[in-house]
Formats: sequence, C-alpha cells, structure tokens
Amino acid sequence: MKILLTGGSGDVGTLLTRALLQDGHEVVNIDMAPPKTPGGIFMQGSILDRALLEKAMAGVDCVVHIAAWHGIHAETKTPAEFHDLNVTGTFNVFQAAADAGVGKCVFVSSTSAAHPHEIYGHTKILGEKMAETYAHRHGMEVVTLRPRAFIPSWNRDVYADYVGWAKWFMRGAVHIDDFRDAVLLAINLKTGRKAPVYTIDGAYDYSAGDLKNWDKDGPGTTFAKYYPDHVALAQKYGLDTALKPKVLEIEKDAKLPGYAPRYTMRNLLEELKAFGADGPPAPYAAANKTPAPRRKNSRHP
Ligand SMILES: NC(=O)c1ccc[n+]([C@@H]2O[C@H](COP(=O)([O-])OP(=O)(O)OC[C@H]3O[C@@H](n4cnc5c(N)ncnc54)[C@H](O)[C@@H]3O)[C@@H](O)[C@H]2O)c1
Repeated sequence: MKILLTGGSGDVGTLLTRALLQDGHEVVNIDMAPPKTPGGIFMQGSILDRALLEKAMAGVDCVVHIAAWHGIHAETKTPAEFHDLNVTGTFNVFQAAADAGVGKCVFVSSTSAAHPHEIYGHTKILGEKMAETYAHRHGMEVVTLRPRAFIPSWNRDVYADYVGWAKWFMRGAVHIDDFRDAVLLAINLKTGRKAPVYTIDGAYDYSAGDLKNWDKDGPGTTFAKYYPDHVALAQKYGLDTALKPKVLEIEKDAKLPGYAPRYTMRNLLEELKAFGADGPPAPYAAANKTPAPRRKNSRHP
C-alpha cells in the first residue's frame, strides 16, 4: 500500500515509517521537520498548505493523520495555533484525501478528547467529528484512535532521562511500541463500521483483584508481589513502589479488534536494570540506515 503520514518525523511517525517500510509499504511523509529515519518519500512542508497536500495524496491508499499540537504544547502554543493545526489542518487532510479518492484514513485523536473544555481536547473532538463526517459523506473508512499518553523514554526534549520517563509511565500509560502496533492494526482493519473510535491503553501485569485491593497489606506490597526481584532496583532509582497505576476502563466496542498491548512495568524494570538511567537508545539512533525486515513480535524495530 502507499501510505501517507502527516507528522511522520515525530515520535510515533518515526516508528511507523520504519515498520511500514519493513512490511513492504510505500511511505510518504509530510512534515515541517526532517525525518529521523531514512526511507520513503519526504515532502517538507505543512498540512496547512493545501497544494502540497493535493500533491502528496496522489495514488495514496491510506492516510495516517498524526500531525497536531498536543499535551506537551499546551503551554507554548496559543489556542489559535491549536485551532489552525488541529482543526484547519485536519480539515485540509480529510478534504484532500476525499478529493483524491483515498479509501482509508486513520485519525490519531487522544483520550484528551474526553476533556473538550480544554483547547487540546476541544480540537480533538472537532477532528473526531470531521472523521465521522468524511466517512459518511465520502464513503471513506476512517478509524479514529484515542491513545492515552505515549511519549517515548528516548524523547530527551520531554524526559531528562529514563528514570523521569519511568516515574511517569508507571502512573499508567501506553508504550509507544504498542501504540505503533495499534496504528498498524487500524491501517489493515476491516471494521464493517463507518467511523469507529477506539481507546488505546497499555498493558498491565496486575490482576483486577490486586488493582482493586491495591496495597491492602501495606505500601509497596502489591509491587513487591509482582516484581520481588526488582524492589531494590526501583528504590535505587527513586520509583514509588506504592503508586497505583490508573488503568483505563474501556467499553467492549471501544476496544480495537486484535489489539494486545505487551509492554508492562516488568519490561520497564528489565530495561532499567539493563540500561540504567540512560535507558535503551532511541530505535533510530543506532544505525541511520534503511531498517532490515522486521522480526515478528520484535519490541524495538
Ligand atoms: N505523544 C502523546 O503522548 C500523545 C498522546 C495521545 C495522542 N497523541 C496524538 O498523537 C499525535 C502526535 O504524535 P507524536 O507524539 O508522535 O507527536 P510529535 O510531536 O513527536 O510529532 C508531531 C510531528 O508533527 C509535525 N508537525 C507540526 N506541525 C506540522 C504541520 N503544520 N504540518 C506537518 N507536520 C507538522 C512536527 O514537526 C512533528 O514531527 C497528535 O495527533 C497527538 O494529538 C499524542
């Protein structure tokens, strides 16, 4: 398939580019910033440039619309900037896709859409409404994904080190690799529904009973029950072993079919043990060359 990514130079776009190329797809990336990984066609520019979007859509089978200001930009971008990129930009992407007869779009929304009183959530709700409208009006299959936060440990603009990321992740989040896999599933999904919306959470080792009766035997006891060999490690790096993760309650029809997240607190502890506060390297950092074919179930492509 020929797949257009908007914002393909960002965190999830970088992982998607690698995975899609490895799976034999053709990738086109429209982004203001240069790509972090080689391969595919890069069109430098903005989704606010309708002529560029029109060019980029030629022969495209599926658009994955990622580009947006999001949570980390809430304090640096104005409401007008949020509206321009997230609402006008999303309109431009859907309209250009419809004009070009693209049959499939994956719209990356956010669990923040549940908070429409904030500017970010407000723009995502409007994007979701557009997804629905274009699906119905143009017979386009549009899958909307609502991930919770997935900023990766290797994003040094956001996290000073792996420990900073770990302290945030253990509160409850989805690992970027799992979210990448959710997007890959959505690209291939035959929903039979016009514009489904799926919430994307991460994976957790804890049973429902242990989550309900968290630390009933004292602070840190649930963590110690699951990770007895890692308590000292967690303490060494200042992780709060008494912290209960917030697991999302997701209705059955809001679950993406086939989605089975795999990265849990156990993986985090193993990475912390292996790599210390530096964490594992960014997946694109080691070899800046076109990636080799992806192994099934590989965690870092
Ligand atoms: N990161 C998270 O934790 C998280 C959580 C939920 C939802 N989301 C959603 O995921 C998407 C962001 O993914 P990410 O975390 O990989 O983002 P990112 O910030 O790493 O990447 C976004 C990319 O968009 C590009 N971009 C900015 N303005 C553009 C424009 N006018 N035209 C084209 N490209 C432009 C940026 O250069 C950047 O490369 C957004 O839609 C966001 O709402 C993110």
